[in-house]
Amino acid sequence: MSFATRSEPVWRAIGDAEPHRSDRTFEELCRRLNRQSVDKHFDAYEDVDWDAPDHDVRSDDPRWELADFDPVATTEWYRSQPAQDRARLGLQRVAMTMRTGWEFENVLQRGLLARAFWLREGGPEFRYLHHEVVEESQHTMMFQELVHRAAMPAPGMPALVKHAAERLVVPLARRSPVLFFFFVLGGEEPIDVVQRRRLRAGIAHPLLERIIRIHVTEEARHRSFAKHYLEHQVPHLRPLRRGALAIVVPLLLGTMVRLMLGTPRSFSRPNGVPRAVVRAAWRAPEQRALRADSVAGVRRLCVQTGLVPRWARPVWRALGIWAGPGVDGPGCR
Ligand SMILES: [Fe+2]
Ligand SMILES: [Fe+2]
Repeated sequence: MSFATRSEPVWRAIGDAEPHRSDRTFEELCRRLNRQSVDKHFDAYEDVDWDAPDHDVRSDDPRWELADFDPVATTEWYRSQPAQDRARLGLQRVAMTMRTGWEFENVLQRGLLARAFWLREGGPEFRYLHHEVVEESQHTMMFQELVHRAAMPAPGMPALVKHAAERLVVPLARRSPVLFFFFVLGGEEPIDVVQRRRLRAGIAHPLLERIIRIHVTEEARHRSFAKHYLEHQVPHLRPLRRGALAIVVPLLLGTMVRLMLGTPRSFSRPNGVPRAVVRAAWRAPEQRALRADSVAGVRRLCVQTGLVPRWARPVWRALGIWAGPGVDGPGCR
């Protein structure tokens, strides 16, 4: 299969210059993922029993209390709140995360469509991209349905971030697919790590448990595609471009981790969570470890493909995404 797109002559000058070459491994991966998407996929309304009696969404339900992995959950301030308030805060946090989640997936879908628009039809990658768009649309519908049922304020990304995502990230899918798929992993990996931890620890509310289980199952394919794409493309980039990526990728990942795992002001301010509490929780050793661990897979990929030269490591460290259990490759510490 060729990686080339019809617009390659134009983008070769300013973008990643995808190499013209056949790659059976990548082609086979796309075919395998396509088969899996047919064998195991979910519908937001057919496969989630929204109206089951124990699936009701009420803000005074203690099953919504914050998960231990949330920075605020571990604070003395949160523990001292009345049970009813803890439940309300927990539900609002879930709703806000779901809102940010579907906004991220909206940008992601548009990027995938922009890429597919210039691919030759009939190839396994074209079909794979559309499977992923369909799956992300189903996730978006699941997430927005829960936000709707929570019936409480759930602001998502800050307006500035939304504008930037729309104007910068969507065009990246064509101009620099490598950077686009790093953006994809920057959003998907931290959420996946947290969602898997929640499933392992046990989720009290069965509706949330069902949504997260469906999401984790399908996201495994998306992360696999993005990682394989990058593993194939990064080694072929020009040295100058690799040098630029060595700086840009950790900055992008650090920003995405903050967006996906941090406590936004739109949550803390209206709920009266003191800023000092939020700051202290963010700096707690467990939270630092969680953030570093949340991008362990992408970090490993960067190390293996030579995108972390020694001089770039301080950038990773400064952003708090270097140390952690995922740093296990030779010369990673
Ligand atoms: Fe998703
Ligand atoms: Fe995804």
